[in-house]
Amino acid sequence: MKADGTERRRRAGGSVAGTAMLAWLFAGGAGVWLPAAGPPEGSGAAPAGGAARGQAGGTVADGVFTADQVSRGEQTFREVCSACHDTVEFSGGRFRFTWVGLTAGDLFDTIATLMPEGDPGSLSPAQYASVVAYLLDLNGYPAGETPLPTSLSALQALEIVEAP
Ligand code: HEC
Repeated sequence: MKADGTERRRRAGGSVAGTAMLAWLFAGGAGVWLPAAGPPEGSGAAPAGGAARGQAGGTVADGVFTADQVSRGEQTFREVCSACHDTVEFSGGRFRFTWVGLTAGDLFDTIATLMPEGDPGSLSPAQYASVVAYLLDLNGYPAGETPLPTSLSALQALEIVEAP
């Protein structure tokens, strides 16, 4: 019984959540305001939906990535990530435990700034976004018409909620 909270916290308190924290700070220390600022780039989406999305913020359950991104992300995962990772590390309970309550931006930023280990930042923002889309797909979030954006501020507005 002792483990649950502590271990999770320790795991999350390491490099990963540290990065997520940094991401929050970078994002202006107030994720709430981000939607109002609007996605600066990379999201051709939500032209009229801005207001609706701005209020509550979107979630990753809203069809915020495309099937195309998923298949590109899967390929990247196979080529790059699978050297060190198995998909089970990033799905089911383990994914939920670590990421629900954070944002797609946290996930993106963690991967983009730390991975692949030994050569972080070596993929393009589009590739990292595709990998994130793939991981979301793995966890049962639906694909949609709108590609997952590549800008951190737009991604930070997408909360990772429980998969539908
Ligand atoms: C060379 C080996 C290597 C490669 C390649 C690699 N990783 Fe990692 N990854 C690691 C190690 C080791 C850790 C654990 C680091 C830690 O916990 O401090 C890690 C941690 C992570 C985490 C955090 C796990 C958590 O606690 O939720 C994520 C997410 C992740 N990797 C995703 C990726 C993705 C996506 C790719 C491909 C783009 C990738 N990694 C490629 C070695 C690698």
